[in-house]
Amino acid sequence: MSKATALPIVDLTPFVMSASSDEQLARAKHLVEACRDVGFVFIQGHGVPKETIQQAFEISKKFYDLPKEEKMKASHPPGWTVHRGYSWPGLEKVSNATSSVDARDIAAQLREVQDFKESYEIGSEDNPDMPNVWLPDEVFPEWKPFMTGFYWTCWQAARMILQALSLGLGIEEDKILGPHSGHYNQLRLLHYPPIPSSYVEDNIFARMPAHTDWTTITMLFQDDCGGLQVESPTQPGVFIDIEPIPDTLVLNVGDLMMRWTDDYLKSTQHRVQLPPLQDRAIVTALVAAASALPSPLVLVERQERSLEDYISRQFNISLQGALLNIGGTNSSLVPGALPGYVVASPSKINPDYFYSWTRDSALTELMITDELIFGTERVGNISLQTVVEDYTSAQAFLQTVTNPSGTLWPAGLGLGEPKFFTNGTRFNGAWGRPQNDGPALRATTLMEISYAIFERNPMAAQIVSSIYWPIILNDLLYVGQYWNTTSYDLWEEVNGNSFFTMTAQHRALVQGSLLAARLNTTCAPCNQAPQVLCMLQNFFWNSTSNYLLANINANQVTRSQINADPILAAMHAFDINATCDAAALQPCNSRTLATHKVWVDSFRNLYPVNHNATAPAAVLTGRYPEDTYYTGNPWYITTLAAAEVLYDAAAQFSKAGSITVDSTSLPFWRDLSPNITAGTYTNYTAVNNLITDMRTYADGFLELVQQYTPANGTLNEQINKTSGEPLSAIALTWSYAAFVTAAERRDGQFPPSWGANSVQANQKINGTCPFGAYNATTQYTPASAAGAPNITKPCETLVTFQLIYQTGNGENTYIVGNTSLFGNSLNSTSPNNTIAVLRTNNVTAAEPKWFEPAWLPAGVPVAYKYLIANSTSGTFTFENITRYITPPACGNNTNVTTYDIASFSPHS
Ligand code: NOJ
Ligand code: NOJ
Repeated sequence: MSKATALPIVDLTPFVMSASSDEQLARAKHLVEACRDVGFVFIQGHGVPKETIQQAFEISKKFYDLPKEEKMKASHPPGWTVHRGYSWPGLEKVSNATSSVDARDIAAQLREVQDFKESYEIGSEDNPDMPNVWLPDEVFPEWKPFMTGFYWTCWQAARMILQALSLGLGIEEDKILGPHSGHYNQLRLLHYPPIPSSYVEDNIFARMPAHTDWTTITMLFQDDCGGLQVESPTQPGVFIDIEPIPDTLVLNVGDLMMRWTDDYLKSTQHRVQLPPLQDRAIVTALVAAASALPSPLVLVERQERSLEDYISRQFNISLQGALLNIGGTNSSLVPGALPGYVVASPSKINPDYFYSWTRDSALTELMITDELIFGTERVGNISLQTVVEDYTSAQAFLQTVTNPSGTLWPAGLGLGEPKFFTNGTRFNGAWGRPQNDGPALRATTLMEISYAIFERNPMAAQIVSSIYWPIILNDLLYVGQYWNTTSYDLWEEVNGNSFFTMTAQHRALVQGSLLAARLNTTCAPCNQAPQVLCMLQNFFWNSTSNYLLANINANQVTRSQINADPILAAMHAFDINATCDAAALQPCNSRTLATHKVWVDSFRNLYPVNHNATAPAAVLTGRYPEDTYYTGNPWYITTLAAAEVLYDAAAQFSKAGSITVDSTSLPFWRDLSPNITAGTYTNYTAVNNLITDMRTYADGFLELVQQYTPANGTLNEQINKTSGEPLSAIALTWSYAAFVTAAERRDGQFPPSWGANSVQANQKINGTCPFGAYNATTQYTPASAAGAPNITKPCETLVTFQLIYQTGNGENTYIVGNTSLFGNSLNSTSPNNTIAVLRTNNVTAAEPKWFEPAWLPAGVPVAYKYLIANSTSGTFTFENITRYITPPACGNNTNVTTYDIASFSPHS
């Protein structure tokens, strides 16, 4: 037997992270070569977190350590049609038998040498042909939840490998991935119990004799004992020892893939023998193998997956996709993110979304909390309760982080900051700030978590009062204090009053007063709710053109204000118990439906992928028609919202048992039912037909999302308006969350009522809307019980450093100083992100100015100087003077701007 000759190693990290397509192609080719030449390959960067693999081994070991009677409680059903559950040593016999000789004779002969291994087979819970066999919960409670999750985790890696293979082979991805529904794979946990090595050597028992796999691909995770041998690519019959390499998986091509590729890729014989390195007297080894199998149905001919199939598969991918973008879930997708920090997308360049946005985080965690309320305790090894608890402490911490929007104390201004780094530090770059939807959405999510606690924990009143209320109250104070000031909208572009933002504010304040009452306390800022409502009801409706405006008092006037903003608002205000005329805009309200039509219509002829489709055909939708971000494209979030809001409306109509069509909603209904006239419909069949039309229309939007979901289920931010290719941020957390909520509403799962029908939510003001706000200054307090640090009223003030200097070719200006923001050094020569880069609006101006806005500890003197880095020559030129400034003292609210004339010698 020959040693050495390790298998080829291919690193697929470029597929896990968003890397350039060139990089991906290079790796894909490498992979294909390895699969062609050897058929076996070590895969690095497969995306399955190390901790998960370790846990899989630990849990398997625990299982195999159970007494045999216990294990037999999940025993493999008799026969071979259902290959699931526990196979005891000797039950299974692996062979390479062919049907040319009488199979029964061969089987008998083969069985003379028993395979000394035990195994457990697991499949998709949704595979009707092979129902899983589980242990009773009380025997081993972790077993089923962990393993069902691990099954899908493995499938994610398998999907990526199949994708890479298609890329490398130059075959359409769908050809290979299409037939894999994800539901026909098999996860097998193999255990080779200790046996005296002489038994194997003397041919009394075999571990696993030589065979090929009949799968498309098999992936293998080994513990460190080894034992796998692969037939040499050059010397038939010679088996090579494969020594495990930490953190890799072993991939091999199966017979089916060999056949699909007309023998181009190679299905190679392999076997398991005694591990080479261990005590050979007694050896034990654990192996987890996951095979990807195509669905048997589609082998003959590729069938279009039904919407139902797509949804059930995409639901799992999306829920898990969102969770994997959160720190603390042991996800390798978001390295460095602290527990509870929701990363907007793993993408670090083009665009860089590796931040925690308050909005994205709150909406994602709201979805997760609702999943918990609906009864999903875990997804794989991720406990949803832990996720929302981690989120709570992360946000309690972030509330106290001083940032470019300001501080927590005294006036709460820092709460309006839109995003942070995922390690809890502030982001100093230029941005549209503040964004006032953030605190309102976060308050609502934390109140949803509180609701979940009330549902589950008899000590809820105490827990919510002491831990949750203080953090919620900070946000409610902010909402009450600043609702009447302008801020940037949810798309981070328009400074004004956004319908979405104000809807979130209204809901938060109403919920706040209801929760306060439940906790026997009060919420003074919550009394602002009627004023917020007054604005929402009186200033946003465009009665001439029949739609709700996204923004008023906006800093730009050129837009139509047709926008997804009010649609997302109606979804956020949705309460299954509310009537269509509830004050907080409901999905079934005529204004929502009218806006839906105008907004959807604005994209019909705008995006080439929509092919000018007319109603009642659904089309891909974007944020707003004038959008230029990435040249303006359809988004997953908004197209899912177009569907979700209609499922919500349909549910409300169905609950009411009647539908009122008025002049506002008539154009919407005409699209679905051309001859409909205004009036109230109560006849069962009439109502039912309209609801069915509405749901069919909603399904149309989901079908488009299905059509533009790549085979591996990844949802990016956008869809290219011309080619239909996924675009912009990869695996966008919010896209996944939007999928989950849309699928749940379609399925009739509604979040608990937030009180849209309560007196508080419907308190209106007659006459002119008053614009007074609640003054909460000095009432903000770190929510220490929830995890805020015990800080003593920090204070930083804004100093804008201004350098007057005409840069030459290849020159960039930097600032260094003895303050942490500027790198803590006056002489650092390596400009990196701790040294601020100065920016400018206009380099060619007569007086060229460079700026760095910096929040510095109030009253603490700073020494600083400027430098220029020449990117062509790689040299640094420092000023030879040191400058000093003392940022204004705390509380006097003055910002200063320096006027520093550069002292470098002028460039030639
Ligand atoms: C980034 C924001 O997140 C996005 O919404 C916006 O369109 C672009 N910046 C351009 O302003
Ligand atoms: C851009 C979107 O416009 C904004 O709403 C979102 O917060 C960020 N991307 C991050 O996903």
